[in-house]
Amino acid sequence: MKVVTHSQRPDLLTEFEHMESDAFPEFMLHDPIWNGCWPQILTEFSDFQLYLLDPDTDQLAGVFNTVPFVWDGSVEDLPDSEHEVLTRSLRHRREGREPTALCGIQVAVATSHQGRGLASTALTEGRRLCKEHGLSHLIAPIRPTLKSRYPTVPFERYIDWARSDGTPFDPWIRTQVLEGAARLGVCREPMRFEGSVSDWESWTGLAFPESGGYVIGGALDLLQVDLTEDRGRLAELNVWYGFRIDPEEGA
Ligand SMILES: CC(C)(COP(=O)(O)OP(=O)(O)OC[C@H]1O[C@@H](n2cnc3c(N)ncnc32)[C@H](O)[C@@H]1OP(=O)(O)O)[C@@H](O)C(=O)NCCC(=O)NCCS
Repeated sequence: MKVVTHSQRPDLLTEFEHMESDAFPEFMLHDPIWNGCWPQILTEFSDFQLYLLDPDTDQLAGVFNTVPFVWDGSVEDLPDSEHEVLTRSLRHRREGREPTALCGIQVAVATSHQGRGLASTALTEGRRLCKEHGLSHLIAPIRPTLKSRYPTVPFERYIDWARSDGTPFDPWIRTQVLEGAARLGVCREPMRFEGSVSDWESWTGLAFPESGGYVIGGALDLLQVDLTEDRGRLAELNVWYGFRIDPEEGA
């Protein structure tokens, strides 16, 4: 796989945006915190946005978006959620602080290239990026790929599900573990997605005729609809995994 950064190939942005909207459920594309931070992240951290290209076609096969920030290596100093990752990285940049860790904020593999180990390649490239920039950890708040098929199962139980061979049930968690990442804990705060009832109706293609909990496609938990307030709220937990980077290994 050929790997380039956004600073090297800014022309891949449109292809990237198509891949992103194919990979994630619609409601995630309307996240005001992500959308508010993203243009600045792309500009400030363009060397940390990785594009994986199919060497035969030069087409985009996968992306790994990351941000550098200061982390002291303790569980207590982990950001509360991915939203805090975004705001913390930009704040540390503004304050001119020297980053110590790289945090994955998004990975996506084109449907045509899924199941070929590109997620592992992305993690390998993330570790390489850490070495290149003198960062001592690669961490990420993981959004388990298949949790959306089990929205009523408590998150803490789901992440401990295992296959008969003892490896994690969830493929994205499995990739972390097989690559050697350690679990650092469940995020203290969920990612919160909120909108009016008509927003959620257009994002999901469903109708919500009464208040209550609904299963919606792609969400890790139930959407809670409140007709009196005209609000739909979804809270999704993620789980932290991380690698300590050995500057000598594979150098
Ligand atoms: C999660 C994702 C990045 C995995 O990428 P990938 O390159 O296909 O993963 P790999 O080829 O390394 O596969 C790892 C394992 O997951 C399995 N797998 C991958 N995608 C899967 C899917 N959608 N459903 C079920 N299993 C899947 C593979 O079969 C493999 O299983 P194995 O350990 O038994 O061999 C990719 O599915 C994707 O882009 N999903 C949409 C975006 C997303 O959810 N990103 C993660 C949160 S930011």
